[in-house]
Amino acid sequence: MFKDVIFESASRSKSRVVIALDFTSKVKTRLSSSMRTLQEVSDYVAAVKLNYHLILPYGLKGISGLVEFCNKKGLPVIADLKLNDIHSTNKEVYRLLRYFGFGGVIVNPIVGYKEGMDALLRKDRGGFGVIFLVMTSNKGSDEFYGMDLDSRKLYHIFAEKAKAWKADGVIVSAKNTEAIRETRRIVGKDCIIFTPGVGAQGGEAEAAVSAGADFIIAGRAIIKSDNKINEIKKLNSVFQRF
Ligand code: XMP
Repeated sequence: MFKDVIFESASRSKSRVVIALDFTSKVKTRLSSSMRTLQEVSDYVAAVKLNYHLILPYGLKGISGLVEFCNKKGLPVIADLKLNDIHSTNKEVYRLLRYFGFGGVIVNPIVGYKEGMDALLRKDRGGFGVIFLVMTSNKGSDEFYGMDLDSRKLYHIFAEKAKAWKADGVIVSAKNTEAIRETRRIVGKDCIIFTPGVGAQGGEAEAAVSAGADFIIAGRAIIKSDNKINEIKKLNSVFQRF
């Protein structure tokens, strides 16, 4: 299971940080910057998250060396696609991501289960992680994710579906500790809570972790720092207090 894979990696590196390699530098040099950063920090992170920043300009083939490096180190690589499509497309994305060595994918579950998410939430997915977007950290997140529906909010339903459909994890903003607490209450212990939005976006790692987050996702706070390892250690230090 994905949970075993990522916690094994976390205990090897003694880290609960997932690094987002979100370089926005010139496309020509972006892959080499990512690779250099990865080589520098790979022993200090639990997993690597790749976003459109690399996947769009280079494609899965173009970044296969970077993914292979992570695989050799036992670091799960998560594709942050916020995937939200019909079965036939999701099935192909699943096949391609697995073929190119990815260990998981972030999805937006709003397409529903039947002929949608069922292509990813397969019983035989083994260690491949399917991670639901539950509550985002941008200012507009309340427009939909925080929408009031009688006595609950829309994101509560995503959390309920994560549990019911046996998603491996969920993404909940570090800037919304109430949402982290509520999500934990809904999903229980077995579903991993990843929290982005710390550092560059103003979320506080300590508050997010005390509210129940298992892993911190961080990009700019690390990759823009002159002392990347120190930044990662600072983020990790909040876990030792709980
Ligand atoms: P930074 O540089 O803000 O990068 O540490 C965060 C990464 O996580 C992705 N992501 C999100 N970020 N709220 C966020 O702040 C979310 O809800 C969210 N979901 C995913 C983001 O795209 C970047 O790669």
